[in-house]
Amino acid sequence: MDKKAAEKAKLAYDLDREYVMHSWSVQSALKPPVITRGEGIYFWDEKDKKYMDLASQLVNLNIGFNHPKVVNAIKEQADELCYVAPSFANYSRSLLAKMIVDITPENIRKCFFTVGGADANENAVKIARAYTGKFKIISRYRSYHGATYGAITLTGDPRRPPVEPGIPGVLKAFDPYCYRCSFGKTYPDCNIECAEHIREMIMYECPETVAAIIIEPVTGSNGVFIPPKEYFERLRSICDDNNVLLIADEVMTGFGRTGEWFGIDLFDVQADIITMAKGVNSGYIPLGVVAVSEEIGTFFDDKFLYCGLTYSGHPLACAAAIANIEAYQEENLIEKAKQLGSVLDEEMKKIKENHPSVGDIRSVGLFGCIEMVKDRETKEPLVPWNGAPGVMAELKSMLWEKGLYLYIRWNYVFIAPPLVITEEELREAMAVIDESLSICDKVLEE
Ligand SMILES: Cc1ncc(COP(=O)(O)O)c(C=O)c1O
Repeated sequence: MDKKAAEKAKLAYDLDREYVMHSWSVQSALKPPVITRGEGIYFWDEKDKKYMDLASQLVNLNIGFNHPKVVNAIKEQADELCYVAPSFANYSRSLLAKMIVDITPENIRKCFFTVGGADANENAVKIARAYTGKFKIISRYRSYHGATYGAITLTGDPRRPPVEPGIPGVLKAFDPYCYRCSFGKTYPDCNIECAEHIREMIMYECPETVAAIIIEPVTGSNGVFIPPKEYFERLRSICDDNNVLLIADEVMTGFGRTGEWFGIDLFDVQADIITMAKGVNSGYIPLGVVAVSEEIGTFFDDKFLYCGLTYSGHPLACAAAIANIEAYQEENLIEKAKQLGSVLDEEMKKIKENHPSVGDIRSVGLFGCIEMVKDRETKEPLVPWNGAPGVMAELKSMLWEKGLYLYIRWNYVFIAPPLVITEEELREAMAVIDESLSICDKVLEE
């Protein structure tokens, strides 16, 4: 690294520590590495050390760093028109809406654009409330739907209680978390209670008051739960029986993460509203989408849509999304994610065999989670849920030292690389994880 670049990196760190507040942290505890560049699945720090990104940053960088097609599309759009208010029509925005309708399940017909995932979910709630004339929303405990006030109220995980009270009318259901079933049952002899109890909830709450259920089709940052197919069939029928909308939060699962365009495609079920962000343009420019069914779209033909954002359908973000979707198609990345999914599955199985501290493994497409426990019998988590990170923090630093960046949270190790990863790179990374997990086994011996 030349002298100028080194000075810039030092300034980046010093100014960060003086002026920047970072997400979800006690600020004085932070020593953020300075990242200077990225390409494909790799990025480099201020010492020019190279890291492989097995987390796609925040599970959003599906196309990898600095994909030339997407970079060029942003440049071309910037030359043509950087911004235009949402009230105007614009080529990038219009074309992107059509492209999204084309890749989503058949019933989806129109798009409202937002700036990210949280506001996509909040606008989905507004649309569901307006369309049904009802107000209650059911979400789940082990869920994350965003950090703005409405979205954090929908969220069930430990990021919610510290900022309560949130918005009114949100209720929580249990999750399809088969490894730790809230009902003490074992699939398939479980009557899919995790869905069935929602039917009962709606009965007690009164169907005339419940507008929608919002779920992550495959739970994301709470541990990659892949529900059995019947779960969605059951949920869909519960919604239909009670005139309740089904909202699929595809912010993390959308755009190939699970080996399908969308998580719900795994289950052959239609949602009434699909929210998206992250992989829509891999985060190159902030963008979110609320995609709605034909019926909901038509409803607003003669009803006022009480939703609006200055940056709704930002042309630069839309141009990046068009190029991104084209790249997924041209490079066959969705299919590739499905194929590499079997490699990931195979490697995770080996890891489970090698390490007594691995309690459960779950994966679909390029979306995996290794759940760490103290004891396979009792399933006691290796570190407490929402407690001190303990050995999991040590594991994260060890992997970082070895040039591997992973998303590690509570007792979960997530594997979610950019979809452009090769089989060789994936196996190489899994081998590093395998050798590093011995640090967790040692806790069992103490
Ligand atoms: C499933 C899900 N929904 C919503 C969000 C919030 O998206 P954003 O951070 O863009 O607001 C996230 C972010 O991780 C997510 O994983």
